[in-house]
Amino acid sequence: MRESRPIIALDFPSLSDVKSFLARFPKKEQLYVKIGMELYYAVGPEVVRYVKGLGHSVFLDLKLHDIPNTVQSAMKVLAELEVDMTNVHAAGGVEMMKAAREGLGEGPRLIAVTQLTSTSEKQMQHFQNIQTSLEESVVHYAKKTAEAGLDGVVCSAQEVKLIKGAIASDFICLTPGIRPAGSAAGDQKRVMTPKDARQIGSDYIVVGRPITQADNPAEAYRTIFEQWQG
Ligand code: C5P
Repeated sequence: MRESRPIIALDFPSLSDVKSFLARFPKKEQLYVKIGMELYYAVGPEVVRYVKGLGHSVFLDLKLHDIPNTVQSAMKVLAELEVDMTNVHAAGGVEMMKAAREGLGEGPRLIAVTQLTSTSEKQMQHFQNIQTSLEESVVHYAKKTAEAGLDGVVCSAQEVKLIKGAIASDFICLTPGIRPAGSAAGDQKRVMTPKDARQIGSDYIVVGRPITQADNPAEAYRTIFEQWQG
């Protein structure tokens, strides 16, 4: 199940930034990139068409969460953009996740966010009024995600074993917060190296700044690629 390429988070504000960044890679290098809210809301579907047109794969990270009918219609639109993977919030419910799958179709991967990694256990208990441990809530949402027929979840690398153990070894765990040994963590609190992420069983890793802010992004990508490949 493991994707051999690290997913590069294209956290840029404009299409021209994306163009100049991608131009720094060899033409034949087929990348897997993540397009998030900032870039998608700034540029729109054109950015997906542009990146797909270059032959790259796209994870569209929009974290949909709305009534089932609206999510289903939105997913139909994303399916037409030929995204390779996209996501929803598991908190939207099993019916919403099933509707998302229905709208997207069976081809692209569909994963869910359980609890955002920015949510602390205390916040979850006080604000969401969920009286369990954070881990229990994450596993609960992951089980509901599997029940709805989705492919996996976004999670912290530290949660992979727990989630796969509770569901199935082929349930996808996509993990951000990855840093090559010795690089700056930035605002990420709990980081893991590509090698450790591979060893604990992550299926996809997402890496942003260590590649996008590097003096030589193609070289930084290659190094991370090799550590991830093992
Ligand atoms: O630059 P960096 O490698 O920290 O980027 C990680 C990417 O993964 C960003 O786009 C960030 O929004 C995203 N992400 C994350 N942690 C999560 C979910 C998404 O870092 N729990």
